[in-house]
Order: sequence, then C-alpha cells, then structure tokens
Amino acid sequence: MSYFTYKLIHYLGIFLLIAVVGLALGRRSVLDGDDPLRRRWNTIHAVALFVILLGGFGLMARIGVDHGEPFPGWLWAKFGIWAVLGGTLLAARWWPSRSLALMGLIPVLAVLAGWVAFSKPF
Ligand code: HEM
Repeated sequence: MSYFTYKLIHYLGIFLLIAVVGLALGRRSVLDGDDPLRRRWNTIHAVALFVILLGGFGLMARIGVDHGEPFPGWLWAKFGIWAVLGGTLLAARWWPSRSLALMGLIPVLAVLAGWVAFSKPF
C-alpha cells in the first residue's frame, strides 16, 4: 500500500479514537460501568488504537524506518502519546471528576502527535 493510503488509515484511526473517547467521556454511565454498550465503546476504542498503529507502522515503512535500526526520538514520543490516549477511558473511570480535563487533553495530544511527526524535532 502507498504512503498516502497508510496516512488515510492513520487518520481514520485518529478520528475514530477521538469520536469514541469523546462519546464515552460524555456518558456518565459508560464510566460508572452500568452502560449496556460499555463493552462496545471499549472495543471501538481498542479498534481505533489498532488502526492508528497499523497506519503508523505502514507510514514508518514507507518513510524508511527499518526494523533493525533504533527508532528516532520523535517516534518514541508518538508511542508515548498513543499509550496515554489508550489510557484515557481507564483514567476517566478512576477519576470521573476529571472527565472534562481529560476531554481537553485529547485534542492537545492529537495536535502534539501531528506536530512531532511533521517537524521531527528530535
Ligand atoms: C505508536 C503510534 C504511532 C506511530 C508509530 C505513528 C507514526 C507516524 C508516522 C511514521 C507518520 C509519518 C511521518 C512522515 O510522513 O514523515 C505519522 C504521521 C502522523 N501522525 Fe502518527 N503515529 C502514531 C500515533 C499517532 C497518534 C496517536 C496521533 C494522533 C492522535 C498521530 C497523528 C499523526 C498525524 C496528524 C500525522 C501527520 C503529520 C503530517 O505529515 O502532517 N499519530 N505518524
């Protein structure tokens, strides 16, 4: 697949992730655990994280980051951002009163991930 296709896959995962986390954070019952669709939100969240990774690894291959060589710093930053975004629903369950702050964190991290990939500062 082409660089362009992988980038679209990457974006698909990112938008899905933002949509599902926003939805889940806005539904008190999802966080409390008594929402009948909670498992579905969790599954969509996991699928979104996987699709981001799929697109990300495809992009890595297309821009020439090889398996053998150590990852550049900006990629490690992206793995960190990815992990934090993966932990958002769990964090919201632990600190439900922080849901709004977590919701604000999502676009900030998404923009940061884009900036890191675009400018590769380290
Ligand atoms: C482990 C996870 C991730 C990996 C391996 C990864 C990898 C990559 C790679 C290799 C590129 C292409 C850079 C280039 O074209 O030179 C890229 C671009 C991008 N990534 Fe990721 N990424 C990951 C997670 C994320 C996350 C979580 C987000 C946002 C929520 C994100 C947002 C973006 C954006 C917006 C771009 C496009 C930047 C541009 O070229 O304008 N990435 N990513």
